[in-house]
Amino acid sequence: MITIKSEELFKESEKHIPGGVNSPVRAGKAVGVTPLIIRRADKAHIFDEDGNEFIDFVGSYGPMILGHNNPIVKKAIVEALEDSLSFGAPTKKELEMAILVKELLPSIEMLRMVNSGTEATMSAIRLARGYTGRDKIVKFSGNYHGHGDSLLVQAGSGIATQGISSSSGVPNSIIENTLVLNYNDTEQLETLFKISGKDIAAVIVEVISGNMGVVPGKFDFMKRLREITKEYGVILIVDEVMTGFRVNIGGAQKLYEIEGDLICLGKIIGGGMPIGAFGGKKEIMEKLAPVGEVYQAGTLSGNPIAITAGLTTLNYLKDNPKVYLYLEELGERLENGINLLIEKYKIKAIVNRVGSMMTLFFTDIRVTNFSEAKTSDEKVFARFYKEMLISGIYFPPSQYEAFFLSNEHTMSDIDKTLICIENAFKKINIDTL
Ligand SMILES: Cc1ncc(COP(=O)(O)O)c(C=O)c1O
Repeated sequence: MITIKSEELFKESEKHIPGGVNSPVRAGKAVGVTPLIIRRADKAHIFDEDGNEFIDFVGSYGPMILGHNNPIVKKAIVEALEDSLSFGAPTKKELEMAILVKELLPSIEMLRMVNSGTEATMSAIRLARGYTGRDKIVKFSGNYHGHGDSLLVQAGSGIATQGISSSSGVPNSIIENTLVLNYNDTEQLETLFKISGKDIAAVIVEVISGNMGVVPGKFDFMKRLREITKEYGVILIVDEVMTGFRVNIGGAQKLYEIEGDLICLGKIIGGGMPIGAFGGKKEIMEKLAPVGEVYQAGTLSGNPIAITAGLTTLNYLKDNPKVYLYLEELGERLENGINLLIEKYKIKAIVNRVGSMMTLFFTDIRVTNFSEAKTSDEKVFARFYKEMLISGIYFPPSQYEAFFLSNEHTMSDIDKTLICIENAFKKINIDTL
């Protein structure tokens, strides 16, 4: 693998863009690599500026469920381009989007489009506070909800690799209203609600977390979370930015048979374009301006090109439920294959997977929360990552991210990946001799 152009371009980028990247995890610091500068991608394959080809398990961190260059999505975008890029006015397409999302996610009675997952969660928190008249919010350690000030506390994803529990620049006066609980810990939840339940505006949760690596919520925990929030009049914000239309057409809520009061969406809903959305109960959503007194706005919100990409993607997923069966087959093959290799080479590792989201943790304990996720040996992950990259497999460059499968991965992509994983495991074993 020759990476001369990538290295040169990245060095130049570092002079003009902080850290050379527009989002920290991409810098590859956690695994000690210079990031590849990506030129293009097609189906499940991605190509860098040096012409190297990789099997892509990043999928733009989730949106690319139909793979890259899906011809139907592309055609729809090209047609939409004829009508201009943005109007800053209501469109028929955004109405179609709202109706379709309501059909797919019955917990949503009204929907508002924004431009990113971060905007969706920030807006949902403000709305929950405005609706309840309470200030406190609860989040779970290792869950990540974007980079809004009040949610940047003990967050997963990129911030987990920086070794910091919060971000500088966030005033204490903002985060003192953010209470953090252990994920999947019912006892702690009950205790907090007994003391402060009546002061809490909202609990925000990833029902299946993908930002401390993949860590599924426990069914009983999520059920109790739904009950107790109802008992205390607390808004349950289900953050489906990653899981929405990914783990199932109805998201994590369908798998767990629970419904949030407010739901945050992003990634797949934009089919690869910048987008986010939040929605939920009509009574709560009608507190938003211009109907209500909670202000929220956006110049490019409901952008027609982004809506076209998302709408076409969602319609495809709705009309082709076999996509999810296929993703499950791919995921199962990869998971089973990795587990056999873990056994064969006696590697200290476990796999967590829900459908087409998966993480390989280099630890020997079950991972059900952030502190267990952090028992992973990040040095071994970094070693593994580098070996995979050299052999043409593009994984996210951090232990605390998910690998994503797409409809365009083939069984032979999976088998090739397993051969590369076997080689990486052999090398890891040699290292530890
Ligand atoms: C669960 C979850 N919520 C919110 C976000 C933030 O979304 P964005 O990066 O589009 O702002 C992410 C991003 O990875 C996410 O995974």
